[in-house]
Amino acid sequence: MNAITFLGNSTMMIPSQCILRAFTRISPSKYIRDPSFRSYPSRFSSCVNQNKNPDSNRIIKPTNAVPFCTDKQSSVTTAQVVSEARSLSASTTCANDSTVDRIYTKNGLNVKPLDLKKLKGDEKDEEVINGDGKRVVGDGYEGIKSNETEEEAWRLLRDSVVTYCDSPVGTMAAKDPTDTMPSNYDQVFIRDFVPSALAFLLKGESEIVRNFLLHTLQLQSWEKTVDCYSPGQGLMPASFKVRTLPLEEEKFEEVLDPDFGEAAIGRVAPVDSGLWWIILLRAYGKITGDYSLQERIDVQTGIKMIANLCLADGFDMFPTLLVTDGSCMIDRRMGIHGHPLEIQALFYSALRSSREMITVNDSSKNIIKTISNRLSALSFHIRENYWVDKKKINEIYRYKTEEYSTDATNKFNIYPEQVSPWLMDWVPESSDCGFLIGNLQPAHMDFRFFTLGNLWSIISSLGTPKQNQAILNLIEEKWDDLVGHMPLKICYPALESSEWHIITGSDPKNTPWSYHNGGSWPTLLWQFTLACIKMGRPELAEKAVTLAEKRLQADRWPEYYDTRNGKFIGKQSRLYQTWTIAGFLTSKQLLQNPKIASSLFWEEDLELLETCVCVLTKAGRKKCSRAAAKSQILI
Ligand code: GLC
Repeated sequence: MNAITFLGNSTMMIPSQCILRAFTRISPSKYIRDPSFRSYPSRFSSCVNQNKNPDSNRIIKPTNAVPFCTDKQSSVTTAQVVSEARSLSASTTCANDSTVDRIYTKNGLNVKPLDLKKLKGDEKDEEVINGDGKRVVGDGYEGIKSNETEEEAWRLLRDSVVTYCDSPVGTMAAKDPTDTMPSNYDQVFIRDFVPSALAFLLKGESEIVRNFLLHTLQLQSWEKTVDCYSPGQGLMPASFKVRTLPLEEEKFEEVLDPDFGEAAIGRVAPVDSGLWWIILLRAYGKITGDYSLQERIDVQTGIKMIANLCLADGFDMFPTLLVTDGSCMIDRRMGIHGHPLEIQALFYSALRSSREMITVNDSSKNIIKTISNRLSALSFHIRENYWVDKKKINEIYRYKTEEYSTDATNKFNIYPEQVSPWLMDWVPESSDCGFLIGNLQPAHMDFRFFTLGNLWSIISSLGTPKQNQAILNLIEEKWDDLVGHMPLKICYPALESSEWHIITGSDPKNTPWSYHNGGSWPTLLWQFTLACIKMGRPELAEKAVTLAEKRLQADRWPEYYDTRNGKFIGKQSRLYQTWTIAGFLTSKQLLQNPKIASSLFWEEDLELLETCVCVLTKAGRKKCSRAAAKSQILI
């Protein structure tokens, strides 16, 4: 039975035009093996709004499942599922509009109007789900009036909404009315949408997030080719654009056009996209209480595809994920190839989310086990080997090298000369301050402080409770360096002179203290806020939000700031950058309602520490006794 017959036979009413038609330049995915499912490029000319389908929550049970994905390690076999979610993408007729490539942005005409009544008071009674999965009643926004800056931020955020077949599906990266060369900033980036999604969810508006999750899921299933080679199945695009294509008789249709890195500057792989997608899916369930979305077969398949891609065996020696440079928020060459902390922290968060969301049954028990083992090994590795404070740096400074043995102290053969003078000056005296380094490879420790990775280590409990507290202590202690005039530095310190030449390849956008090379990114504010709330230090976040609030509106919501202390709007910074706006709004909302915030982070999982003991003991590692693993909690 082919997919179309299958859909036709299902109990659900699915209009014939509701067939997946992501705008790909190539053939259908290899995992949709049935050649008759060649709906692309199909030419249906009228648009049916899928979201109005009363049955849109229903799961179609595959009656003719074909195994497509077997992970050696996890032995996961997932059925080929063609559900209505993968059919959400519909064509549309847009008569009387001759603008090809037009993006349907929210202009007040074709989007759900803002429910002002709800915004003013209803939230206080809204139920949210806390970190333990229990329902709690939110604090609400009573008594807290949104100020003029917030009002403008909301207006701009709503104005950046992109619609597809009249339904909101995401927000474009930047919408500066004066910018005539938006490059790809007019696209919906997966990572950029996360703070927008949270802002909407926290406001009680979930439709856009649900649509985003389902439409990007569709895009995942399509194969992309870069120089005659296809990236692994399960990869999520970095971004997508809604394009309008002409049909006959002045009619138009809309298509989703994903970019998997094949058009991106530097052809960078969007490794973080799938991880963010999983994290957002969990947040959607926690905040709305609608778990039916994550339980759908197609969504379950999507989670497993991403997990399988990340868990696949390679040449790795470590539990960390091996990636190329520029595979995350820093999407240009910055010397973060290998095992960058940002990817590891997101990987850990995504695995924890997956473990919570994957439905337990016979076919999923192997992948759940693989995920648990990887989580244990990953946290052990990061806590042990990425952590530095004054004491540890002193140890490294006195390391013996060239130790050939399984119980070497200097396992990675780090030459003490790598401990640069800036680090020795910079690291605080106190043992209550420390951080996770940016990257670890054979004979290489990247001692730069990368903010996103450290914040997500706190949020996800990748670090121990003590380490997490120590990271915040360090940020407080080094406030002028890491926050300065605008929260927060993407990394510290900047690469200068020959390092800049060699490591960035003389990138004129990444000059010292600019952009990814030590620039200050206000979007990091929401993740800082979440980390502070988790560690019981909201006042630190409030201080940073107050600082940002003083400037963001006046400066027209820049993407990033330059100089050592973030005093200047970035040299090539976009204005009206959506994740700056959304990050600010999300921070505000989290501070106003910390109980909701608790549904977005993870506490220490003692079970994982126990698993760590078993896994590593079996491997015969002396160091990993039960006591050693338990002591991690106390480090
Ligand atoms: C820049 C950032 C990247 C972001 C994109 C869109 O390339 O480095 O993280 O997703 O802009 O805002």
